[in-house]
Amino acid sequence: MAGRDANCLLCHAVPESGERFMGNVAPPLSGVGARLSAAQLRLRVVDQSRLNRDTVMPSYYRVAGLTNVAEVYRGKPILTAQQIEDVVAYLQTLR
Ligand code: HEC
Repeated sequence: MAGRDANCLLCHAVPESGERFMGNVAPPLSGVGARLSAAQLRLRVVDQSRLNRDTVMPSYYRVAGLTNVAEVYRGKPILTAQQIEDVVAYLQTLR
């Protein structure tokens, strides 16, 4: 799962992943593919802060308006566009 590199499991439980240690600061992602459309999932992974200004979830594909980003990472999204699509495709399988 591409999301593993992005540490989704730090905050979210995904029982289907078979991982032993998962976070619980965020809602579990079970069934999220049935609750949300691909576009809704994409928006949340790309930039959850558009939906919740105070969210703790990282904006995985946003570079504008960030403060406190180390020089080498400036201007680079956390995930590539392809990785975002892979994560969205994976989330859609969670039904
Ligand atoms: C630092 C913690 C954190 C990380 C890391 C994180 N999230 Fe989240 N995520 C949250 C929180 C908290 C919410 C609940 C909404 C909010 O508070 O903004 C959320 C909400 C979501 C939602 C909407 C869930 C729903 O039921 O509406 C999706 C989908 C999601 N995250 C996917 C991901 C994916 C995929 C990754 C990894 C690429 C990820 N998250 C990484 C904290 C996190």
